[in-house]
Order: sequence, then structure tokens, then C-alpha cells
Amino acid sequence: MSAAAAAAHSGVNQGVAPVTYGQGDRPPRGDYARAAADYTCPQDYAQYTAADHDTYRRLYARQLAQLPGLACNEFIDAVRQLGTPERIPHYDEINERLVKATGWQVVGVPGLIPEEAFFALLAERRFPVTDWIRKPEEFDYIVEPDIFHDLFGHVPLLFDPTFADYMQAYGAGGLKASRLDACELLARLYWTTVEFGLIDTPDGLRAYGAGILSSAGELHYSLKSPQPRRVAFDLQRLMRSRYKIDTYQASYFVVDSFQQLFDATAPDFTPIYRAVRERIASEGEIEAGAVLPGEREFFVG
Ligand code: PHE
Ligand code: FE
Repeated sequence: MSAAAAAAHSGVNQGVAPVTYGQGDRPPRGDYARAAADYTCPQDYAQYTAADHDTYRRLYARQLAQLPGLACNEFIDAVRQLGTPERIPHYDEINERLVKATGWQVVGVPGLIPEEAFFALLAERRFPVTDWIRKPEEFDYIVEPDIFHDLFGHVPLLFDPTFADYMQAYGAGGLKASRLDACELLARLYWTTVEFGLIDTPDGLRAYGAGILSSAGELHYSLKSPQPRRVAFDLQRLMRSRYKIDTYQASYFVVDSFQQLFDATAPDFTPIYRAVRERIASEGEIEAGAVLPGEREFFVG
């Protein structure tokens, strides 16, 4: 974080190590010298080779074919707003539609960025999208987010007005959490909703989390496998819970609606962080995959 502050003064970022959810010590792949003080950079469209466009096209086709019955309707309705599935989209073209729909826009970044820079962008309704794409040998799995994860996973729901407001509120909440030294607790909310959230619909459980929706295997696993637990969304409960970063999730949290999610996260988190910390101090954290006595659980299949 101090390195990021120094970079803000010089106006460029010289390879500042990004801090985000559950990352290891591996240096980030992107070229951070390209980024401005707020970590954004123009989408380097000239970098894409024919093979890159083909990777995008194949990833998109594989994921799109899986959406019916697994992705929430809000996602399915909006995914075509990304533009042609045949090649990597221009961010400008998406923004023409996205700004009109919800006032959000996507902005380029070289890769993962520091937490505070990330929160600041979200609070301004600017969603950072990594501009490079994975290599063919990473087709099935990539450790850091690339353009396919960021665009296909995250951007469709920014067209939904309620979810769009939630993302902005999360950004503002992140800036506050930084001041309260509570980013680790808040990150658990991001992980269990924005990345791995499930929603209960009249047609059954559906996925809305970007980590699920951009994953070849986890989309089916999260909704059809008897292995993971699926429990009702509960803010303080999930802030006490550990999560997996190197395998499919052991637990998923289920919301009834995006409005429920927005309303449950609207109160001031200052006393909530305190309560969660006290509870962790007295009872410990909840392991990934645990279900608590009396907890509402969802079953599939
Ligand atoms: N209400 C939260 C707070 O006061 C902010 C927030 C909103 C955080 C939505 C996450 C999601 O800190
Ligand atoms: Fe993501």
C-alpha cells in the first residue's frame, strides 16, 4: 500500500505488487508501468493476436453453452451486451451500452491492482478489466484474472440496476474498511457474493458469481454436485468463514434476490466488524464447508 502511495505521486506504477483476495507471493503478470496513478490503462487492443481472439471465442462459446439452467436470468439476458463473441471486444463499445444502462463503465488495468485503488474505482462506477488474455495452455484454469474472467464473469451483471448499485456500495464500503483495517472481513463478502454467489429463483438455484460463471467446471459443480454445502446468505456468518482459493468452493452462500443482498449490506459495517471480530476471538473462524446447527441449507439434484 505504501508503494502504491509513492507511485501515485510519480504518476506511474513501477511494478507495484497488487494486493487482492487470497493471492500468493507470485509476482503479477501485467506490465504496471503502463498504468496511471489510479492503476487504469488504455486497452492495448493492438497486442491481441489471432490466437488471442481465438482463445476468447472458444472460452466464450464453451461458457455460453452452459448458461441455460445454471446462470441467473439477469446474467443470461445481459451477456450479449458484451458484443460479438467472435473476438475480444473493445471496451469503448461495451461502454456505449453500459453507461446508458446503469452509469457503469469498464476501464483497462494491467492485472490485479491494490485493494484501495480497486475500491476507489468501484465507488466511481468504474470496473477494472484486465486487458490481456490467458495463454492457450491456461485454457481451463488460470491463477490470476484475465480479460475473459473480468469481462464475461463480471460485466453482464453491471447491466442490472440493483447489482450495479451493490457493486458501487461495495467500493465505498471498501474505502471505509481500509480505514477500519477490516479489508479481510469485507473481502469475504466479495468472495462469497460477487465471485461465488448463488441465487434462489422460482426455477431453482442459479449462479451469479463471476468466479463460477467464468469457470468451465465450477458452474456445473456449484449447482449440481452433492459435494459442496449451500447455505442461506448471512452477513456476519460469512464474515467469520474461511474460503478456498485453490479448489472449487466447499460452501456457497445463497441470496433470495439482489435486493436482499443490497439491503443486508446497507447498514454501517463499523459495529458489524466489531461484533464479528469478537465472535472470531471467542469461537474461532468457521471452516469452509461447515454447516452450523439450525442453518438453512439448500439441496440440489
Ligand atoms: N454498508 C457498508 C458499510 O457501511 C458498505 C457496504 C455496502 C459494503 C455494500 C459492502 C457492500 O461499510
Ligand atoms: Fe473476479
